[in-house]
Amino acid sequence: MADAKIIDGKAIAADVRAKVAADVKRLKAEHGFVPGLAVVLVGEDPASKVYVKNKAEQTVETGMLSFEHKLPAETAEADLLALVDKLNKDPAVNGILVQLPLPKHINSEKVLNAIDPDKDVDGFHPVNVGRLWIGARSLVPCTPTGSLILAQTVAPKLAGLDAVVIGRSNIVGKPMASLLLAQSCTVTVAHSRTKDLPGVVRRADLVVAAVGIPEFVKGDWIKPGAIVIDVGINRVPKGDGKTKLVGDCDYASCAAVAGAITPVPGGVGPMTIACLLKNTVEAALIQKNIPALG
Ligand code: GUN
Repeated sequence: MADAKIIDGKAIAADVRAKVAADVKRLKAEHGFVPGLAVVLVGEDPASKVYVKNKAEQTVETGMLSFEHKLPAETAEADLLALVDKLNKDPAVNGILVQLPLPKHINSEKVLNAIDPDKDVDGFHPVNVGRLWIGARSLVPCTPTGSLILAQTVAPKLAGLDAVVIGRSNIVGKPMASLLLAQSCTVTVAHSRTKDLPGVVRRADLVVAAVGIPEFVKGDWIKPGAIVIDVGINRVPKGDGKTKLVGDCDYASCAAVAGAITPVPGGVGPMTIACLLKNTVEAALIQKNIPALG
């Protein structure tokens, strides 16, 4: 089998952002408003600071309003909840994202559940989880949304495919399973207790790996020609004292068997913020009762 087609997440994310920018222009011209995204960062986690900076920059680049709220690590839970309440009530704010992880003294679930479901651009609120599973209009977590878009670039019709999602997190595995079910895939959710995981994965026409274990999925688990979407971003030692990023799939052996595969970096990663921007537009549409833009 020839080597797999490499799915270029960077290029596809740029396409998503271009569509967001076009939608933002259209909303301004036809409905007289510009969507706004509020991002809340509590504390000084270096990785979170980078994410928040990138989010704010890309929000502005697509023509939207960005509201950044940086709070000290010792912020009381009640004060964070008061800010969320203020943002819920602010008509200029269409999307609210509270960056995770939060400091240990704050109950993350309580904070996330306080966000207005119609402004919940992470799609983590139980109301959005429920809406997704019943097929109602909802805000869907960004990473699975981006993963689905990548898969659809190589298989526009996913109906009938056997899909195996490895990992059952609330952020990726479970919503991914729901999205693939909505595309009429036959979905298996595999996890750490799955019996004969290689055998289960070998049945899949589409594999989504979201386990958080570096290079866990091996090439001889992959059905020849299958689509492999690697959600993992793991930093590992390179041997020369430096580090490198690898996915949850052993790239070389999987790429030798798959029909198409996402690289790490440059696959699912760039899609996440692009889908956050897309969700901010969708949140504004939901709030204003405007049908999805074509
Ligand atoms: N921290 C790392 N990724 C994410 C994300 O997708 N959403 C939020 N809220 N925090 C994160």
